[in-house]
Amino acid sequence: MSKPRVIVTRRWHRAVEMALLEKFDTQLNEDDHSMSVAELQEALQNADAVLPTVCDKLSAEVLGADNIRAKILGSNGVGFNHIDLEAAKAAGLTVTNTPEVLTDCTADLAMTLLLMVARRSGEGERHVRAKDWSGWRPTHMMGTSVTGKTLGLIGMGRIARAVSARAANGFGMKIIFYDPFPPRPEDLGGLKATQCQSSDEVFAQADFVSLHCPGGKETYHLIGAEAFAAMKPGAFLINTARGDVVEESALISALKSGQIAGAGLDVYEKEPSISDELLEMENVVLLPHLGSATMETREAMGMRVVENVEAFFAGNTPRDKLV
Ligand code: DGY
Repeated sequence: MSKPRVIVTRRWHRAVEMALLEKFDTQLNEDDHSMSVAELQEALQNADAVLPTVCDKLSAEVLGADNIRAKILGSNGVGFNHIDLEAAKAAGLTVTNTPEVLTDCTADLAMTLLLMVARRSGEGERHVRAKDWSGWRPTHMMGTSVTGKTLGLIGMGRIARAVSARAANGFGMKIIFYDPFPPRPEDLGGLKATQCQSSDEVFAQADFVSLHCPGGKETYHLIGAEAFAAMKPGAFLINTARGDVVEESALISALKSGQIAGAGLDVYEKEPSISDELLEMENVVLLPHLGSATMETREAMGMRVVENVEAFFAGNTPRDKLV
């Protein structure tokens, strides 16, 4: 029997590409270019499985292409707001993602951003590299202490809980959270975390607000002018979730007016484009969507896609089936 035809939209971890080449009739994206609408449609028309990443927009337009041959979208990433799930379903596609395997890695990066922005690390590094450092002095580049402060989480899923464990156990932080679908107490694994009844309750108390809600229509611009006004003066915002959860213009205003003290961002409203104003601010730490970017995690994510696609073609329900 011939192997299913699989098209991969970007370069993946080499071990995963090798596994895909071995198991399927695989077409890789050798030059790692970002595929256009027409290329994605062509992929859907010519393969049994298309393996996108979170940077490929599988919109209703893409998924509305004529004569779609593909039966599964094995997406490489946990977030799925880049895929119009209704349109995928209407096109007869099964969609899978890669939960769990990137939880710790992304939590590590949220803590990295929190520490960097509080301790002015990006600014300090730029200062040293520019050869502007004249030596130690008591008032030089004073940041904000992290230990013992309050961390407020918006969304309390797996990644938020992993961030909380690091913050509470490593830095003695007090944990508060708001989630419209809160975890069961047993999912907190002994973590001492106080559930708030609204995001405003979190904003009013948190020294650091970390976002862990999914992207999509429900959370679009959740953090806008009103949210910033509700935050404690001098609070910091950390975003490793999705860029458009934060209204970038409102964030810039809140930073400019000093309403909040700083922000640590891994994701952006119009990613990969970032507003010049943010690029010029010293009190923001800007990373290029690196949440899951370790060798180990990217391999595990890719292998999870392989597992899902293999299960699908073996006639089983993939373990990470979304629709
Ligand atoms: C995801 O998986 O959703 C991240 O944003 C990329 O790792």
